Amino acid sequence: MNDWVEIGSINDIPRRGARCVRTPQSKIAVFRTMEDQIFAIDDHCPHKGGPLSQGIVHGAAVTCPLHNWVISLETGKALGADEGSVKTVAIKLDGDRIFASLERVAVAAE
Ligand code: FES
Repeated sequence: MNDWVEIGSINDIPRRGARCVRTPQSKIAVFRTMEDQIFAIDDHCPHKGGPLSQGIVHGAAVTCPLHNWVISLETGKALGADEGSVKTVAIKLDGDRIFASLERVAVAAE
């Protein structure tokens, strides 16, 4: 069962940037768009596992730094001709504070 777990402040993430949160199951990339939307997806490209947190954010999508697949931050799906998807994590904001729907066990920011 998931809980809303505080994972930091929107001010910790540069616009069009990301930071990572490690959970027992995976590493999650938390993105901030130019419009101050926050999205969280697995930091693991569906192509060959590239670190999406190091990709370039444009609109509500990120381009993987390895082979340029474009992944929707809203759906986790690859856009264009590529097929695949990553897990998305629900996010809610309370002022500047970011909460993610995660299992409440040992969440550690990196
Ligand atoms: S690993 Fe992301 S595009 Fe290849």
